[in-house]
Amino acid sequence: MSIEKIAKQMVEKGKGILAADESTGTMEKRLKSVNVECTEKNRLNFRETLFSSSSMKTSISGVILFEETLKQTSNSGIPIPELIKKSGSIPGIKVDKGAKLLSGSDQEKVTEGLDGLRGRMEEYYKLGARFAKWRAVYSISSKHPSEQCIKSNAHALARYAAIVQEANMVPIVEPEVLMDGDHTIDKCYDITSRVLNECYKELEIHNVNLKGTVLKPNMVIHGSNCKQKAKTEEIAKKTLECLKKNMPKEVPGVAFLSGGQSEIEATKNLNEINKINDTSFNFTFSYGRALQQSALKTWAKSMTDIKKVQKVFDHRATMNGASTEAKWNEKLEQSFVA
Ligand code: 13P
Repeated sequence: MSIEKIAKQMVEKGKGILAADESTGTMEKRLKSVNVECTEKNRLNFRETLFSSSSMKTSISGVILFEETLKQTSNSGIPIPELIKKSGSIPGIKVDKGAKLLSGSDQEKVTEGLDGLRGRMEEYYKLGARFAKWRAVYSISSKHPSEQCIKSNAHALARYAAIVQEANMVPIVEPEVLMDGDHTIDKCYDITSRVLNECYKELEIHNVNLKGTVLKPNMVIHGSNCKQKAKTEEIAKKTLECLKKNMPKEVPGVAFLSGGQSEIEATKNLNEINKINDTSFNFTFSYGRALQQSALKTWAKSMTDIKKVQKVFDHRATMNGASTEAKWNEKLEQSFVA
């Protein structure tokens, strides 16, 4: 399949992406929070439980994996990428090596992982991955993000995207303006706008085919410690405005990260964005925490009751699927019986 077709499929209406690509360090934190030991077996068991849920067929267009998971075999003997493909979903792979201190800056970060990436992409393709992800992070404070941080991350994202397309895979371009801090929603709007503008400038310089990409941005939202919490309508309006201003028309769609929003907030905000969407872009989710949190808590308590965990995950995935078509509401949310 061409990369343009894959990109379209990744953002198709009614479905979204499951971000299950936490590095081992991040998984350690997630599992510790529910008092589970972070072993390779536990990481596989939890993830396999999600990947064999029934909502994979109805609400999940793609799954982002960490390299370890891409190479694992499920307990039923099927390689993990095969298990995902069997449900009609596309396997993807996180290819960056994490955000590292940016020399010459004041504690800001640049994402690394370009060295040897061409060779790694060949291997990932053979293992079944058809899209990739690279995440850049930007924090907001009175002096951040700096021009240096915005420019160096945009440059790396564009070089990554070009290498991924060369391997016939779709790059998810993920510039994440972090929610940490007490900044207002308007400050988030300005920074997100500057960041996106620079990213698309670089993608163009690097001759990336935008029709074969998916943007994974933050929503335009208040900082987590900001006293003035913006309402859903304002978040949706400003997010849409910011994306319309900065996204080239060729990009097929957007798959938002949840970035620390609660499960319900993330669903509600996406639903509202789709309610007012007057563009040709598809807006969907690529959530990590906002798709997995309740399922993880349930799993930690009832590890042997796979059906129970899957029911919780299926509900969350279905609710987010509905929000991609502006069909979510409180009544639907509450229809869930554990
Ligand atoms: P969250 O939805 O938890 O922010 O994770 C999405 C992701 O893939 C971050 O890179």
